[in-house]
Amino acid sequence: MKYLLGYDIGSSSIKVSLLDIATGQAVAAVTSPKQEMEISVPQADWAEQRPERWWQECVNATTELKARYGFDTSLVAGIGITYQMHGLVLVDEAGKVLRPAIIWCDSRAVDLGNQAFAEMGEEYCLENFLNSPGNFTASKLKWVRENEPEVYAQIHKIQLPGDYIAFKMSGQLQTTVSGLSEGVFWNFKQQVIAQELLDYYGISADLLPEVVDTFSVQGQLSAEAAQELGLTAGTPISYRAGDQPNNAFSLNVLNPGEIAATAGTSGVVYGITDAPASDPASRVNAFVHVNHTTEQPRNGVLMCMNGTGILNSWLRKMVGELPYDEMNRRAAQAPIGAEGLVFLPFGNGAERILENRPTDAELRGLNFNVHSQNHLLRAAQEGIVFALIYGMNIMRQMGVQVRTVRAGNANMFLSPVFREAFVNAGDVTLELYNTDAAQGAARGAGIGAGVYASAAEAFGGLERILTVEPTDQLREQYQAAYGRWQDALSTIIPQPISLAHV
Ligand code: XUL
Repeated sequence: MKYLLGYDIGSSSIKVSLLDIATGQAVAAVTSPKQEMEISVPQADWAEQRPERWWQECVNATTELKARYGFDTSLVAGIGITYQMHGLVLVDEAGKVLRPAIIWCDSRAVDLGNQAFAEMGEEYCLENFLNSPGNFTASKLKWVRENEPEVYAQIHKIQLPGDYIAFKMSGQLQTTVSGLSEGVFWNFKQQVIAQELLDYYGISADLLPEVVDTFSVQGQLSAEAAQELGLTAGTPISYRAGDQPNNAFSLNVLNPGEIAATAGTSGVVYGITDAPASDPASRVNAFVHVNHTTEQPRNGVLMCMNGTGILNSWLRKMVGELPYDEMNRRAAQAPIGAEGLVFLPFGNGAERILENRPTDAELRGLNFNVHSQNHLLRAAQEGIVFALIYGMNIMRQMGVQVRTVRAGNANMFLSPVFREAFVNAGDVTLELYNTDAAQGAARGAGIGAGVYASAAEAFGGLERILTVEPTDQLREQYQAAYGRWQDALSTIIPQPISLAHV
């Protein structure tokens, strides 16, 4: 066996990566479609995508990968899948999708989640689920039960986006414990399905699929799927994980004290703990990490900011589709703090760090005689960074030490302004590695299929390519800019937390 395949089911595209087992390096990768996929918004603050489209893009990406690199598909030892988290896919008895997926940044279930948090008891929820049911998958399912009873009646099983892609590949309806936790279907205290929440919502546990281990042979590529993808029937599907646990895994972030970050459509800082941790207002969440076992608990504590790369991508459309590196170059030409231009980047659904309050993005301090396109591009990048730091500081208040942060050399971390603002405003060291989500999924598949005996072996090809440190002078300037950003935030939410953590 020579290769591993990793699929990343993102909100803007599907990526497939081919990893050479001997060198531990990706030899080829394809992203499909070439233009970012659309998210449909049938009502304000709703967000849907068609699971069939994700599958079609898996087929397109794999077909192109084969056409371009012509590898022997019988030498693929395993397939790994990572996916946009918290989404709800509903399938009937015949495996047919019943309605578009209600995806992670859809806010329709916020009120139901808030009500559950209050009525079940905040203390009870935090102690057992480590989270408010919030806007997560269980609350989305409750919304369907309340609002689309005719659809609800036909549900055979629910699936997370990656579960659905695995199902298309193997025909098996499954999920993982980590997957259950991201839907708030998991009781961390008792290490069982969160039956109390299901009862409260009036949802039968029969709707949950079979649970399989994250790293294991979960199924084999069916003849039908093999034909569609152009791969070999019987290839094991041997890893699946949500994009954030997977990002941490792909950076070898597996143990307490280690921190990963990503800045794709959404932005996340993710730290590992071995003891239950929750934020009283559930602004930061905890999910089961990929290497969790009952004997050796491992949770991922994460702050998620919906309005990250999606803001930059929106801005790109506004400035005439400039290439991202040109946007980064122009942002660097405006001074730190963008001469008072402040961007609050909250325009992609309810933000958990703001307690799921309804908010829109805001631009503050705009002066037509001072500010140019460069200022706007910088203010957006700084605003995203400051929102991430704000969430990171909530993690710090919970006792998670955030000193060295690892990230893949991808998306917004490709921007020097973004990196500089992140390390100096956050007072952290940033390490960038030569990996991405799809490669991480391929490595995970290698562990699941028994190609690698350990994580250490799987990460043979992982290399640090850049380290960025804060400096005294820049720290002062960025923290002053962060202070101004927080002042702007305090006008839309009461009492933002202070910088007094350090
Ligand atoms: C994480 C989260 C987002 C999605 C994006 O909790 O909601 O990062 O996973 O794909």
